[in-house]
Amino acid sequence: MGQFPLTLSRFIIRSQAERPSATGECSSLLNQIGLVGKIIAHDLRRAGLINILGTTGETNVQGETVKKLDEIANDTFLRAFQGGGLVCALGSEEMEQMVLLPENCPQGTYMLLFDPLDGSSNTDCNMPLGSIFSVLKHTQTDRPPTESDLLKKGIEQVAAGYLLFGSSTMLVYTTGHGVHGFTLDPGIGEYVLSHERIQIPQRGKVYAANEGNRHKWPSGTQQYIEFLKTPDSAAGRPYSGRYSGCLVADVHRILLGGGVYLYPGEVDKPEGKLRLLYEANPLGMVVEQAGGRASTGTMRILDIEPKKIHQRVPLIIGSQGDVETAEAFIQGRA
Ligand code: AHG
Ligand code: MN
Ligand code: MN
Ligand code: MN
Repeated sequence: MGQFPLTLSRFIIRSQAERPSATGECSSLLNQIGLVGKIIAHDLRRAGLINILGTTGETNVQGETVKKLDEIANDTFLRAFQGGGLVCALGSEEMEQMVLLPENCPQGTYMLLFDPLDGSSNTDCNMPLGSIFSVLKHTQTDRPPTESDLLKKGIEQVAAGYLLFGSSTMLVYTTGHGVHGFTLDPGIGEYVLSHERIQIPQRGKVYAANEGNRHKWPSGTQQYIEFLKTPDSAAGRPYSGRYSGCLVADVHRILLGGGVYLYPGEVDKPEGKLRLLYEANPLGMVVEQAGGRASTGTMRILDIEPKKIHQRVPLIIGSQGDVETAEAFIQGRA
């Protein structure tokens, strides 16, 4: 008889036994994120058959065309956390303002920021997609949270992670005690531990960047990418280019095998494209917890003092050694 599956719920219970100080609330939140993942995966697996591909015709606060699946994923997160008592406020890429869940205040002590569907350009061509989440604690429990309560540095996250809708559905998260990956077993409808205590290699052999933007990059960034492509077998170069259009999928590959993902600042758009609160911060926490590094090219992502909920930042993330080399080029020190 095979080993009994170590499901997400059992793993969380085991983790709590090892760390009595941990409260159960965050674990209930993680289980709810898992349920969201199952529902979104169920939609995605048959998206071409139930008229949920394509766009809604709307434009979101980012100035992006909203895909039907963006909206469906966002609604799934909203409905999962309304009334549950756990989360008192939500911030989403797809919603201009923070959403207060008054029925959950003040007992709800968590605030959830999320990118409901990451990699939206991939929806109609069956390429990988993800969801990203960041969990903050609402410390002023004598009053409902305001938007400024969401503007916490990444180092203040109590949990972070992502769902990856790839060849299998995975949930990868950290609560500050290592990074653990679970694979959804559709046969039993449970997430089963498949990658315990993920450690990212010190250096990798892969880089992920949209080189179609090369002409917009500052020279240091251009030089770094050329450096990665210059053969030097002793240094393991050239690196292979792997770019899927889904940040979660590209970072997941790098988390497991090493390397570097870049969505850098551009000459005319130094803040870059990716959003701090629900993309860079949560992935930054995951990658740092696995022994990697997440930087704007000049400073640590998790140290940034947020000013706005949809604030953008340049993101260089991955293996410690690779990100440090990228920083040296970007800062003109290479
Ligand atoms: P989202 O779909 O949540 O808006 O995020 C898209 C992000 C990220 O997932 C991806 O790596 C990057 O944008 C792709 O941008 P380009 O199409 O400009 O390369
Ligand atoms: Mn995204
Ligand atoms: Mn998105
Ligand atoms: Mn988007």
